[in-house]
Amino acid sequence: MSENPCHFATGRHSMRTLSIISWLLFATAVATPTFAWQDPPVEEEEDDIFPPDFEEPKDGVGLYLQHCATCHGAQGDGKGPLVLEEPARSFEEGGFSFGNSREALFKTITSGLPGRSKMPGFKSYLTEDQRWLVVDHVRTLMPEEQTVSARDTELRVLDRPVVARGLLPSLGDDLPDWPRGLLIGSPDGLSFQYRTDDVRLVALRMGRFADRRDWNGRGGDPLVPLGQRLVTFGGGDPGPAFARDFGADSPPETLQARFRGTWIRGRRSGLRTELWSGRSLASVEEELAVEAVTGFTRRLRARGETSDLAVGLTGGEGSAWTVDRTETPRWATSATDAGTLIVFPHVRTRWRVTDTEIWLRVPASGELSVTYLLVDDAARARIEAAIQEIVR
Ligand code: HEC
Repeated sequence: MSENPCHFATGRHSMRTLSIISWLLFATAVATPTFAWQDPPVEEEEDDIFPPDFEEPKDGVGLYLQHCATCHGAQGDGKGPLVLEEPARSFEEGGFSFGNSREALFKTITSGLPGRSKMPGFKSYLTEDQRWLVVDHVRTLMPEEQTVSARDTELRVLDRPVVARGLLPSLGDDLPDWPRGLLIGSPDGLSFQYRTDDVRLVALRMGRFADRRDWNGRGGDPLVPLGQRLVTFGGGDPGPAFARDFGADSPPETLQARFRGTWIRGRRSGLRTELWSGRSLASVEEELAVEAVTGFTRRLRARGETSDLAVGLTGGEGSAWTVDRTETPRWATSATDAGTLIVFPHVRTRWRVTDTEIWLRVPASGELSVTYLLVDDAARARIEAAIQEIVR
Protein backbone atom coordinates (compact mmCIF):
# COMPACT_ATOMS: atom_id res chain seq x y z
CA MET A 1 0.00 0.00 0.00
CA SER A 2 1.43 3.33 -0.99
CA GLU A 3 2.15 5.83 1.74
CA ASN A 4 1.88 8.67 -0.72
CA PRO A 5 -1.07 10.74 0.49
CA CYS A 6 -1.89 11.77 -3.08
CA HIS A 7 -2.26 8.19 -4.19
CA PHE A 8 -5.84 7.01 -4.15
CA ALA A 9 -6.49 3.92 -2.11
CA THR A 10 -6.77 0.65 -3.95
CA GLY A 11 -10.18 -0.98 -4.17
CA ARG A 12 -9.69 -3.04 -1.04
CA HIS A 13 -8.60 -0.14 1.04
CA SER A 14 -11.40 2.10 -0.12
CA MET A 15 -13.90 -0.63 0.73
CA ARG A 16 -12.46 -0.68 4.20
CA THR A 17 -12.68 3.07 4.46
CA LEU A 18 -16.29 2.99 3.43
CA SER A 19 -17.26 0.30 5.85
CA ILE A 20 -15.62 2.28 8.61
CA ILE A 21 -17.74 5.22 7.66
CA SER A 22 -20.91 3.16 7.77
CA TRP A 23 -19.90 1.72 11.11
CA LEU A 24 -19.14 5.16 12.40
CA LEU A 25 -22.50 6.40 11.29
CA PHE A 26 -24.36 3.57 12.95
CA ALA A 27 -22.29 3.64 16.11
CA THR A 28 -22.68 7.34 16.80
CA ALA A 29 -25.89 9.24 16.96
CA VAL A 30 -25.02 11.66 14.21
CA ALA A 31 -27.48 14.40 13.35
CA THR A 32 -30.78 13.98 15.10
CA PRO A 33 -33.09 14.74 12.23
CA THR A 34 -36.38 16.14 13.41
CA PHE A 35 -37.93 15.30 10.08
CA ALA A 36 -39.32 11.95 9.10
CA TRP A 37 -37.59 9.70 6.65
CA GLN A 38 -39.64 8.19 3.90
CA ASP A 39 -40.66 4.66 4.75
CA PRO A 40 -37.97 2.33 3.49
CA PRO A 41 -39.14 0.62 0.34
CA VAL A 42 -40.37 -2.90 0.93
CA GLU A 43 -39.52 -5.51 -1.65
CA GLU A 44 -42.54 -7.60 -2.43
CA GLU A 45 -42.98 -10.58 -4.67
CA GLU A 46 -45.32 -9.81 -7.50
CA ASP A 47 -48.67 -11.45 -6.94
CA ASP A 48 -49.21 -14.22 -9.42
CA ILE A 49 -52.72 -13.09 -10.22
CA PHE A 50 -53.07 -14.30 -13.77
CA PRO A 51 -52.13 -17.81 -14.81
CA PRO A 52 -50.56 -17.53 -18.29
CA ASP A 53 -52.40 -20.45 -19.90
CA PHE A 54 -55.69 -19.16 -21.24
CA GLU A 55 -56.97 -17.88 -24.57
CA GLU A 56 -55.86 -14.26 -25.01
CA PRO A 57 -58.11 -11.65 -26.57
CA LYS A 58 -56.64 -10.12 -29.74
CA ASP A 59 -57.43 -6.43 -29.30
CA GLY A 60 -56.76 -3.71 -26.73
CA VAL A 61 -60.32 -3.62 -25.42
CA GLY A 62 -60.39 -7.37 -24.86
CA LEU A 63 -56.95 -7.42 -23.27
CA TYR A 64 -57.92 -4.55 -21.01
CA LEU A 65 -61.13 -6.27 -19.89
CA GLN A 66 -59.21 -9.46 -19.30
CA HIS A 67 -56.26 -8.04 -17.39
CA CYS A 68 -57.09 -4.63 -16.02
CA ALA A 69 -60.82 -4.24 -15.50
CA THR A 70 -60.86 -6.37 -12.33
CA CYS A 71 -59.18 -3.51 -10.56
CA HIS A 72 -59.62 -0.47 -12.78
CA GLY A 73 -63.21 -1.13 -13.89
CA ALA A 74 -64.43 -1.72 -17.43
CA GLN A 75 -64.79 2.04 -18.02
CA GLY A 76 -61.50 2.87 -16.30
CA ASP A 77 -63.29 4.52 -13.39
CA GLY A 78 -61.16 2.66 -10.83
CA LYS A 79 -64.17 0.74 -9.52
CA GLY A 80 -63.45 -2.79 -10.57
CA PRO A 81 -64.78 -5.74 -8.56
CA LEU A 82 -61.41 -6.41 -6.96
CA VAL A 83 -61.19 -3.82 -4.21
CA LEU A 84 -57.78 -3.29 -2.80
CA GLU A 85 -56.55 -1.59 0.33
CA GLU A 86 -55.15 1.07 -1.95
CA PRO A 87 -57.68 1.73 -4.69
CA ALA A 88 -56.67 1.33 -8.34
CA ARG A 89 -56.52 4.56 -10.29
CA SER A 90 -59.39 6.03 -12.16
CA PHE A 91 -58.24 6.73 -15.71
CA GLU A 92 -61.36 8.82 -16.26
CA GLU A 93 -60.05 11.24 -13.68
CA GLY A 94 -56.55 11.24 -15.08
CA GLY A 95 -54.87 9.42 -12.22
CA PHE A 96 -51.36 9.05 -13.58
CA SER A 97 -48.55 9.96 -11.20
CA PHE A 98 -46.02 8.30 -13.43
CA GLY A 99 -47.01 10.01 -16.64
CA ASN A 100 -49.67 9.48 -19.25
CA SER A 101 -47.64 9.52 -22.45
CA ARG A 102 -47.66 6.29 -24.46
CA GLU A 103 -44.11 5.58 -23.30
CA ALA A 104 -44.88 6.25 -19.63
CA LEU A 105 -47.95 4.02 -19.73
CA PHE A 106 -46.02 1.30 -21.47
CA LYS A 107 -43.46 1.45 -18.68
CA THR A 108 -46.12 1.32 -15.97
CA ILE A 109 -47.87 -1.62 -17.57
CA THR A 110 -44.61 -3.47 -18.20
CA SER A 111 -43.02 -3.05 -14.78
CA GLY A 112 -45.91 -2.13 -12.53
CA LEU A 113 -45.41 0.52 -9.93
CA PRO A 114 -42.45 0.27 -7.58
CA GLY A 115 -42.35 -0.43 -3.89
CA ARG A 116 -45.46 -1.57 -2.12
CA SER A 117 -47.89 -0.66 -4.86
CA LYS A 118 -50.50 -3.23 -5.84
CA MET A 119 -50.29 -2.30 -9.50
CA PRO A 120 -48.68 -5.42 -11.01
CA GLY A 121 -46.23 -5.54 -13.91
CA PHE A 122 -47.37 -7.41 -17.00
CA LYS A 123 -44.05 -8.13 -18.63
CA SER A 124 -44.44 -11.87 -18.27
CA TYR A 125 -48.17 -11.95 -19.00
CA LEU A 126 -48.48 -9.77 -22.09
CA THR A 127 -46.24 -9.57 -25.14
CA GLU A 128 -44.82 -6.21 -26.13
CA ASP A 129 -47.42 -5.84 -28.90
CA GLN A 130 -50.23 -6.66 -26.48
CA ARG A 131 -48.94 -4.08 -24.00
CA TRP A 132 -48.99 -1.38 -26.67
CA LEU A 133 -52.58 -2.36 -27.59
CA VAL A 134 -53.56 -1.94 -23.94
CA VAL A 135 -51.74 1.41 -23.76
CA ASP A 136 -53.76 2.73 -26.66
CA HIS A 137 -56.99 1.55 -25.11
CA VAL A 138 -56.16 3.13 -21.74
CA ARG A 139 -55.51 6.40 -23.55
CA THR A 140 -59.08 6.34 -24.90
CA LEU A 141 -60.33 6.14 -21.30
CA MET A 142 -58.46 9.27 -20.26
CA PRO A 143 -60.20 12.64 -20.04
CA GLU A 144 -59.71 14.91 -23.04
CA GLU A 145 -58.47 17.74 -20.90
CA GLN A 146 -56.53 16.38 -17.99
CA THR A 147 -57.23 18.11 -14.72
CA VAL A 148 -53.95 18.33 -12.90
CA SER A 149 -54.16 18.22 -9.16
CA ALA A 150 -51.15 18.18 -6.87
CA ARG A 151 -51.74 14.55 -6.03
CA ASP A 152 -51.59 13.49 -9.63
CA THR A 153 -48.36 15.23 -10.49
CA GLU A 154 -46.22 14.38 -7.54
CA LEU A 155 -43.12 12.48 -8.54
CA ARG A 156 -42.34 9.88 -5.96
CA VAL A 157 -39.11 8.06 -5.34
CA LEU A 158 -39.70 4.48 -4.33
CA ASP A 159 -37.10 1.81 -4.86
CA ARG A 160 -35.00 3.44 -7.59
CA PRO A 161 -33.54 6.92 -7.90
CA VAL A 162 -35.62 9.38 -9.91
CA VAL A 163 -34.28 12.20 -12.05
CA ALA A 164 -36.25 15.28 -13.08
CA ARG A 165 -34.98 18.15 -15.17
CA GLY A 166 -36.54 21.52 -15.77
CA LEU A 167 -37.15 24.99 -14.48
CA LEU A 168 -36.48 25.15 -10.76
CA PRO A 169 -37.70 27.98 -8.56
CA SER A 170 -35.25 30.47 -7.08
CA LEU A 171 -33.62 29.55 -3.78
CA GLY A 172 -33.21 33.06 -2.46
CA ASP A 173 -34.67 36.54 -2.56
CA ASP A 174 -32.09 37.93 -4.92
CA LEU A 175 -31.65 34.82 -7.02
CA PRO A 176 -33.27 34.01 -10.36
CA ASP A 177 -35.11 30.79 -11.18
CA TRP A 178 -32.84 28.16 -12.71
CA PRO A 179 -34.20 27.23 -16.14
CA ARG A 180 -31.79 24.31 -16.39
CA GLY A 181 -32.21 22.61 -13.07
CA LEU A 182 -31.78 18.98 -12.18
CA LEU A 183 -33.18 17.00 -9.27
CA ILE A 184 -31.96 13.54 -8.34
CA GLY A 185 -34.06 11.76 -5.72
CA SER A 186 -32.54 8.81 -3.93
CA PRO A 187 -34.62 5.94 -2.54
CA ASP A 188 -33.22 6.78 0.89
CA GLY A 189 -35.15 10.02 0.99
CA LEU A 190 -32.42 12.53 0.21
CA SER A 191 -32.61 14.58 -2.95
CA PHE A 192 -29.98 16.64 -4.68
CA GLN A 193 -30.52 19.80 -6.68
CA TYR A 194 -27.99 20.75 -9.32
CA ARG A 195 -27.78 23.48 -11.88
CA THR A 196 -26.72 22.09 -15.23
CA ASP A 197 -25.71 25.16 -17.24
CA ASP A 198 -22.39 24.96 -15.35
CA VAL A 199 -22.79 21.90 -13.19
CA ARG A 200 -22.91 22.66 -9.47
CA LEU A 201 -24.54 21.07 -6.46
CA VAL A 202 -27.01 23.66 -5.21
CA ALA A 203 -29.12 22.11 -2.47
CA LEU A 204 -29.75 19.00 -0.40
CA ARG A 205 -33.25 18.04 0.72
CA MET A 206 -34.93 15.31 2.67
CA GLY A 207 -38.42 13.89 2.39
CA ARG A 208 -40.86 14.00 -0.51
CA PHE A 209 -39.39 14.49 -3.96
CA ALA A 210 -41.01 16.86 -6.42
CA ASP A 211 -44.15 18.05 -8.08
CA ARG A 212 -44.28 18.34 -11.83
CA ARG A 213 -47.17 19.96 -13.63
CA ASP A 214 -45.98 20.09 -17.18
CA TRP A 215 -47.08 16.67 -18.34
CA ASN A 216 -49.71 18.06 -20.65
CA GLY A 217 -46.92 19.43 -22.76
CA ARG A 218 -47.71 22.99 -21.79
CA GLY A 219 -44.18 23.46 -20.51
CA GLY A 220 -42.99 26.51 -18.62
CA ASP A 221 -44.31 25.34 -15.27
CA PRO A 222 -41.55 24.91 -12.75
CA LEU A 223 -40.71 21.69 -11.04
CA VAL A 224 -41.44 22.15 -7.38
CA PRO A 225 -39.13 20.32 -5.00
CA LEU A 226 -41.17 19.09 -2.03
CA GLY A 227 -38.56 17.96 0.49
CA GLN A 228 -37.30 19.92 3.44
CA ARG A 229 -34.19 21.84 2.49
CA LEU A 230 -31.24 20.81 4.67
CA VAL A 231 -28.37 22.62 2.99
CA THR A 232 -28.42 25.44 0.47
CA PHE A 233 -24.89 25.49 -0.86
CA GLY A 234 -23.46 28.97 -1.17
CA GLY A 235 -26.83 30.39 -0.19
CA GLY A 236 -28.29 29.02 -3.45
CA ASP A 237 -25.56 30.38 -5.70
CA PRO A 238 -22.51 28.16 -5.19
CA GLY A 239 -19.17 28.78 -6.86
CA PRO A 240 -17.66 26.70 -9.68
CA ALA A 241 -17.05 23.04 -8.96
CA PHE A 242 -13.77 22.40 -10.75
CA ALA A 243 -10.50 24.20 -11.32
CA ARG A 244 -7.00 23.58 -12.50
CA ASP A 245 -4.60 23.62 -9.64
CA PHE A 246 -2.96 26.95 -9.15
CA GLY A 247 0.05 28.36 -7.42
CA ALA A 248 -0.19 29.59 -3.86
CA ASP A 249 -0.35 33.19 -5.04
CA SER A 250 -2.58 32.89 -8.06
CA PRO A 251 -6.36 32.64 -8.01
CA PRO A 252 -7.96 29.37 -9.11
CA GLU A 253 -8.37 28.92 -12.83
CA THR A 254 -11.90 27.62 -12.78
CA LEU A 255 -13.16 25.25 -15.45
CA GLN A 256 -16.52 25.13 -17.11
CA ALA A 257 -18.45 21.99 -16.16
CA ARG A 258 -20.72 20.96 -19.02
CA PHE A 259 -23.58 18.64 -18.21
CA ARG A 260 -23.42 15.34 -20.07
CA GLY A 261 -26.25 13.41 -18.50
CA THR A 262 -27.40 11.46 -15.50
CA TRP A 263 -27.24 7.75 -14.90
CA ILE A 264 -29.16 5.28 -12.76
CA ARG A 265 -28.03 1.71 -12.09
CA GLY A 266 -30.23 -0.15 -9.66
CA ARG A 267 -30.38 2.01 -6.56
CA ARG A 268 -27.25 3.97 -7.54
CA SER A 269 -27.28 7.23 -9.42
CA GLY A 270 -25.10 10.10 -10.46
CA LEU A 271 -24.16 12.43 -13.26
CA ARG A 272 -21.55 12.97 -15.92
CA THR A 273 -19.76 16.21 -16.58
CA GLU A 274 -17.20 17.37 -19.11
CA LEU A 275 -14.64 19.93 -18.03
CA TRP A 276 -13.69 22.70 -20.44
CA SER A 277 -11.26 25.52 -20.71
CA GLY A 278 -11.31 26.52 -24.36
CA ARG A 279 -11.29 22.80 -25.15
CA SER A 280 -12.37 19.61 -23.46
CA LEU A 281 -9.93 18.65 -20.72
CA ALA A 282 -11.51 15.80 -18.81
CA SER A 283 -14.72 13.97 -18.15
CA VAL A 284 -15.97 13.32 -14.65
CA GLU A 285 -18.40 10.69 -13.52
CA GLU A 286 -19.95 11.42 -10.17
CA GLU A 287 -21.85 8.95 -8.02
CA LEU A 288 -24.05 10.09 -5.15
CA ALA A 289 -24.11 7.55 -2.35
CA VAL A 290 -26.36 8.23 0.60
CA GLU A 291 -24.77 7.46 3.94
CA ALA A 292 -26.55 5.65 6.74
CA VAL A 293 -27.63 8.73 8.65
CA THR A 294 -27.90 12.25 7.28
CA GLY A 295 -25.25 12.56 4.70
CA PHE A 296 -23.89 11.44 1.41
CA THR A 297 -20.69 10.69 -0.40
CA ARG A 298 -19.75 12.05 -3.81
CA ARG A 299 -17.51 9.59 -5.60
CA LEU A 300 -15.74 11.40 -8.40
CA ARG A 301 -13.88 9.67 -11.16
CA ALA A 302 -12.11 11.94 -13.61
CA ARG A 303 -10.57 10.81 -16.87
CA GLY A 304 -8.45 12.86 -19.26
CA GLU A 305 -6.13 15.67 -18.30
CA THR A 306 -6.52 15.31 -14.58
CA SER A 307 -2.99 15.85 -13.35
CA ASP A 308 -3.71 19.25 -11.86
CA LEU A 309 -7.42 19.01 -11.29
CA ALA A 310 -9.06 20.36 -8.14
CA VAL A 311 -12.63 20.03 -6.88
CA GLY A 312 -14.33 23.04 -5.32
CA LEU A 313 -16.66 22.64 -2.35
CA THR A 314 -18.99 25.45 -1.37
CA GLY A 315 -20.25 25.55 2.20
CA GLY A 316 -23.75 25.87 3.55
CA GLU A 317 -26.01 28.91 3.72
CA GLY A 318 -23.42 31.53 4.63
CA SER A 319 -20.94 29.55 2.55
CA ALA A 320 -17.98 30.08 4.90
CA TRP A 321 -15.92 27.07 5.95
CA THR A 322 -13.99 26.47 9.12
CA VAL A 323 -11.06 24.26 8.31
CA ASP A 324 -9.36 21.92 10.71
CA ARG A 325 -6.07 23.81 10.76
CA THR A 326 -3.65 21.04 11.36
CA GLU A 327 -0.57 20.68 9.21
CA THR A 328 -2.66 19.09 6.52
CA PRO A 329 -6.39 19.51 7.08
CA ARG A 330 -8.65 16.49 7.13
CA TRP A 331 -12.08 18.07 7.38
CA ALA A 332 -13.96 21.35 7.25
CA THR A 333 -17.22 22.46 8.80
CA SER A 334 -19.88 24.92 7.79
CA ALA A 335 -23.03 26.08 9.57
CA THR A 336 -26.36 25.22 7.95
CA ASP A 337 -30.00 25.57 8.96
CA ALA A 338 -30.12 21.88 9.84
CA GLY A 339 -26.93 21.49 11.87
CA THR A 340 -23.23 21.54 11.18
CA LEU A 341 -22.11 20.28 7.82
CA ILE A 342 -18.85 18.41 8.07
CA VAL A 343 -17.01 17.50 4.90
CA PHE A 344 -14.00 15.29 4.43
CA PRO A 345 -12.18 13.61 1.54
CA HIS A 346 -11.41 9.91 2.04
CA VAL A 347 -7.72 10.37 1.36
CA ARG A 348 -5.18 12.93 2.36
CA THR A 349 -4.70 15.39 -0.40
CA ARG A 350 -3.77 19.02 -0.97
CA TRP A 351 -6.22 21.64 0.24
CA ARG A 352 -6.53 25.26 -0.73
CA VAL A 353 -8.91 27.45 1.15
CA THR A 354 -10.26 30.66 -0.36
CA ASP A 355 -12.83 33.01 1.18
CA THR A 356 -15.81 30.95 0.23
CA GLU A 357 -14.47 27.71 -1.10
CA ILE A 358 -12.26 24.76 -0.39
CA TRP A 359 -10.32 23.29 -3.26
CA LEU A 360 -9.21 19.68 -3.00
CA ARG A 361 -6.59 18.34 -5.33
CA VAL A 362 -7.80 15.25 -7.19
CA PRO A 363 -5.21 12.48 -6.66
CA ALA A 364 -3.23 11.10 -9.58
CA SER A 365 -5.66 8.21 -9.95
CA GLY A 366 -8.39 10.71 -10.89
CA GLU A 367 -10.55 9.37 -8.09
CA LEU A 368 -11.71 11.28 -5.09
CA SER A 369 -14.52 10.52 -2.64
CA VAL A 370 -15.84 13.26 -0.42
CA THR A 371 -18.34 12.64 2.38
CA TYR A 372 -20.76 15.29 3.65
CA LEU A 373 -22.42 14.68 7.02
CA LEU A 374 -24.90 16.78 8.94
CA VAL A 375 -23.98 16.48 12.58
CA ASP A 376 -25.17 17.96 15.82
CA ASP A 377 -22.80 19.28 18.46
CA ALA A 378 -22.95 16.16 20.60
CA ALA A 379 -21.79 13.93 17.76
CA ARG A 380 -19.32 16.32 16.25
CA ALA A 381 -16.33 15.64 18.47
CA ARG A 382 -16.67 11.90 18.00
CA ILE A 383 -17.03 12.24 14.26
CA GLU A 384 -13.95 14.41 14.08
CA ALA A 385 -11.96 11.91 16.10
CA ALA A 386 -13.12 9.12 13.83
CA ILE A 387 -12.18 11.06 10.71
CA GLN A 388 -8.65 11.41 12.12
CA GLU A 389 -8.54 7.62 12.11
CA ILE A 390 -10.02 7.19 8.66
CA VAL A 391 -8.11 9.84 6.74
CA ARG A 392 -4.50 9.09 7.42
C1 HEC B 1 -54.55 -6.12 -8.92
C2 HEC B 1 -55.20 -4.92 -9.31
C3 HEC B 1 -54.71 -4.23 -10.55
C4 HEC B 1 -54.67 -4.73 -11.82
C5 HEC B 1 -55.06 -6.08 -12.28
C6 HEC B 1 -54.18 -3.65 -12.66
N1 HEC B 1 -53.93 -2.56 -11.90
FE1 HEC B 1 -53.27 -0.78 -12.57
N2 HEC B 1 -53.23 -0.06 -10.70
C7 HEC B 1 -53.65 -0.76 -9.58
C8 HEC B 1 -53.47 0.07 -8.41
C9 HEC B 1 -53.77 -0.31 -6.98
C10 HEC B 1 -52.96 1.30 -8.86
C11 HEC B 1 -52.59 2.50 -8.02
C12 HEC B 1 -51.21 2.23 -7.52
C13 HEC B 1 -50.57 3.30 -6.67
O1 HEC B 1 -51.13 4.37 -6.52
O2 HEC B 1 -49.49 2.98 -6.19
C14 HEC B 1 -52.84 1.17 -10.31
C15 HEC B 1 -52.36 2.17 -11.12
C16 HEC B 1 -52.34 2.09 -12.50
C17 HEC B 1 -51.94 3.16 -13.36
C18 HEC B 1 -51.54 4.55 -12.93
C19 HEC B 1 -50.06 4.63 -12.75
C20 HEC B 1 -49.65 6.02 -12.39
O3 HEC B 1 -49.04 6.68 -13.24
O4 HEC B 1 -49.93 6.45 -11.27
C21 HEC B 1 -52.04 2.70 -14.64
C22 HEC B 1 -51.72 3.48 -15.91
C23 HEC B 1 -52.50 1.36 -14.56
N3 HEC B 1 -52.66 1.01 -13.25
C24 HEC B 1 -52.75 0.58 -15.68
C25 HEC B 1 -53.15 -0.73 -15.60
C26 HEC B 1 -53.36 -1.55 -16.76
C27 HEC B 1 -53.28 -1.07 -18.19
C28 HEC B 1 -53.68 -2.77 -16.30
C29 HEC B 1 -53.92 -4.00 -17.11
C30 HEC B 1 -52.89 -4.37 -18.06
C31 HEC B 1 -53.71 -2.71 -14.86
N4 HEC B 1 -53.36 -1.45 -14.48
C32 HEC B 1 -54.00 -3.75 -14.03
C33 HEC B 1 -54.11 -2.03 -9.54
C34 HEC B 1 -54.24 -2.87 -10.62
